[in-house]
Order: sequence, then C-alpha cells, then structure tokens
Amino acid sequence: MWSNLFGPRGASDYAREVDLLSMFLLGIGLLFALGVFATVLWFSVRYRARPGHTATPTGASRGLAVLSIVGPLIAVLGVFLWGFRVQAHHMDVPPESIEISASARQWMWTFEHEEGLAEINALHLPVDVPVVLQVESEDVLHRLSLPAFRIQADAFPGTPANLWFRPTREGSYHFFCTEFCGTGHSTMSGTVYVLDPITYEHWVTGDTASMTPEEAGELLFAAFRCESCHISTGKGTGPALVGRFGKDASFDDGSTGIFDAAYVRESLLEPAARMVSGYQPVMPSYKGQLDETQISQIIAYLESLSDG
Ligand code: CUA
Repeated sequence: MWSNLFGPRGASDYAREVDLLSMFLLGIGLLFALGVFATVLWFSVRYRARPGHTATPTGASRGLAVLSIVGPLIAVLGVFLWGFRVQAHHMDVPPESIEISASARQWMWTFEHEEGLAEINALHLPVDVPVVLQVESEDVLHRLSLPAFRIQADAFPGTPANLWFRPTREGSYHFFCTEFCGTGHSTMSGTVYVLDPITYEHWVTGDTASMTPEEAGELLFAAFRCESCHISTGKGTGPALVGRFGKDASFDDGSTGIFDAAYVRESLLEPAARMVSGYQPVMPSYKGQLDETQISQIIAYLESLSDG
C-alpha cells in the first residue's frame, strides 16, 4: 500500500530514499495539521463563552514561545539536511556506471548503448548495476521522466544532462516525455526492461549469431519480458503460449483461425487486431522495436514450445 503512495511501485534504491523522505514529510505534515485541529477543537469547547465564564488572557509563556520556534526549526533543518543528502546521492554518479546516451527528438527517444546497440522507445538494462543516461535533445526541449525510478531530466539541445540510477527490481517500467514538445508529445513514451545480467549481456552484445532461431527467440522473449503477461499457468493478462502454436484458436470477434506464424506476427505489430477470446487488448505494439528477423525468431521459439 505504502509503496504505491507516491507513484508506481519504486524500482531503484533512489526511489526508496525519495519515498521515505516523502513519507516523513507527509507524516510530519499530518502530525502538525492534526495537532492544530485538535487544539482548536479543544479550546473552542473548553474555553467557550457561557454564563459564568469569560475569557481572560493569561499572559505570555516564554517556554511555549521558545518551544514553538525551536521545535519546527529543528524539524525543518532536519528535512533540509535529509533532502540535501538524497539530492547529493542523485548528483554523484558512480564511476562504474554503464553509460547510455538518451537522445530525444520530435517525437521519439533513442537510446544508444556503449556496445553500439541502439533502441527506439525502449531501453534494456541489467538489474543492480548503476546506469547513467546522458539525456540530450536534437531539436526542442523534451523531458525524460522515469516514474518507477523517481527521476527525470530535461533534454536540451547541446547540453547533455547526466541522469543516473540503479534499478533494483526486474520488470518493465514506463517512461514518458513530460515537457510539451509538439503534436506528437503524447506518443513520446516507451518501456524500460530491467533484465537479469546474463540475459542483458546476450541482449546488448547482440550475441545471437551463434544461436539457433529458437534460442534467439527465447532471448527476445526474455528481453521484452513477454512472460510477465504470458504466464505459463494461463493466469496472466495474456494467454499462455506453451502448446498453443499451430493449434486452432477462437478470437474475440467471433472468428476462428489457426495460431500460426501470420497470427503471431500480426499480434506483435498490431496486437488489438484480433485477440484470443477472453483476453483484453492490453498488449503493446512492438512495431519499430522488433525487426523481421527478430519476429521470425520469436515465431520459431513459440513453435518450439509446441513440439512434443
Ligand atoms: Cu518530447 Cu514532449
């Protein structure tokens, strides 16, 4: 419950620090607000004007005055020092960070890994390794915002901003452009895929030449975290894919067909076109993220799940 109070569930150690500080501020704010309300209520009952009772001033209390100045002063200074430490951590890029350039233009994000791999509106990262994004724009002002990691940075032309964080949880997380940059602003979003280090290593080095199409497809399946929805038990938001390839399928529009290569390809590029009946149109399109070779590798992998 608390983890969702300040946005999507945090997925970096920085997110934990920010949430803790936010929670403290919220708590201290509530404490003061309730204290004031309770005092007002108590006084208005206890000292209300009624026959036989008139309000008489009691004179100043030095102790109360000192307490009401020094107490909040210490609290506010404490919050300042705490916030300063969190911010200092945010500025202090660890030297072992992976460097990735994040380039914005109307209207897409391009991420380039040190190994030369470039991605559009998608970013693959290893878990538990610090990364620094060099955020820059090729045209107008944009802003890269990663809510699950509690960070964002403006993208200026010519002046890269360093944005570092350490993802602490495998999963997929949305990112957005949060600076209005033209008619396509709302489409400038994508997904960060946080992977286990071995899958990431295979992914980023493009080490698929030595793999069979099924193996390469399995890597892609892991890299895009398809299994987070297509859970093999069938309880996920997408249908289980084991044993499905080549079989008859019924679709939500009432039609039937075969769960074949053409259908998988269509579903990757235009997921909402025909859904397996009983499932919601929640799958994102991988148009622009997967090339034809990769699509055929995924098909080969799904086919292998139905063998035997
Ligand atoms: Cu780019 Cu809004």
